[in-house]
Amino acid sequence: MQTKIEKINASSALAIKIIEGENEEDLSFLSFREKLAMANISHPEKQLEWISSRRAIFDATNALGIEYPGFFKDEHGKSQAMDEKGHVSLSHTKGVATAIYHKVRPVGIDLEFIREKVVAIGPRFLAKEELEFLITNPVHFTMAWSAKESIFKCLGKRGVSFREHIRLAPFEMNSETISGTVQGHDYQIQVSQMENLILTYTIW
Ligand SMILES: CC(C)(COP(=O)(O)OP(=O)(O)OC[C@H]1O[C@@H](n2cnc3c(N)ncnc32)[C@H](O)[C@@H]1OP(=O)(O)O)[C@@H](O)C(=O)NCCC(=O)NCCS
Repeated sequence: MQTKIEKINASSALAIKIIEGENEEDLSFLSFREKLAMANISHPEKQLEWISSRRAIFDATNALGIEYPGFFKDEHGKSQAMDEKGHVSLSHTKGVATAIYHKVRPVGIDLEFIREKVVAIGPRFLAKEELEFLITNPVHFTMAWSAKESIFKCLGKRGVSFREHIRLAPFEMNSETISGTVQGHDYQIQVSQMENLILTYTIW
């Protein structure tokens, strides 16, 4: 599995894993609870995505010199550290998985394939003002979608509407940062494109 690890600063790191072939990972780092959750995923491809995203957390914590604490899902579906220290967010899709870890601040990360259909569903997740500045281009729309997913995951609560509550400031298709606001808090979202994927992340 090819891995890219980025140490963002002394408190935070992210890892991206390209999933190729069968699982060859040593799973001994997983907690008993995580092994049970993994065993419940019947689809082999989905299970491999799940494993790869946990391995990405392992690599990110390792880059910071932190022992993998094990994670459980809270009532909103967000992963929480079993030692109650640090924050994590993860994303996985066909062939790729990623995770970000921060020692003290909540984080959100998202990976999305650039697909034509995102333009058509724009009015479902974008406000009128956002639709006005976006070019009719799947890259621009995917950046907006993914930025909102990262903010949503950083918040970690259900009941937040992408269209009604999360507002993005105008940005260009080559922007590396997007500004967003929700519940009175301003977020800076980092954006990058890797072939046909958009990666975004934000730190509270
Ligand atoms: C839950 C959700 C954030 C997952 O995102 P996704 O792009 O489908 O999938 P990803 O692979 O990027 O992320 C999955 C991970 O998100 C995490 N996650 C799930 N719920 C979460 C929450 N409430 N907060 C933070 N992280 C969450 C989990 O770790 C999950 O991985 P796991 O199941 O392996 O543990 C997303 O499906 C969602 O509900 N988004 C809001 C939908 C919405 O409001 N849409 C609006 C308009 S159309």
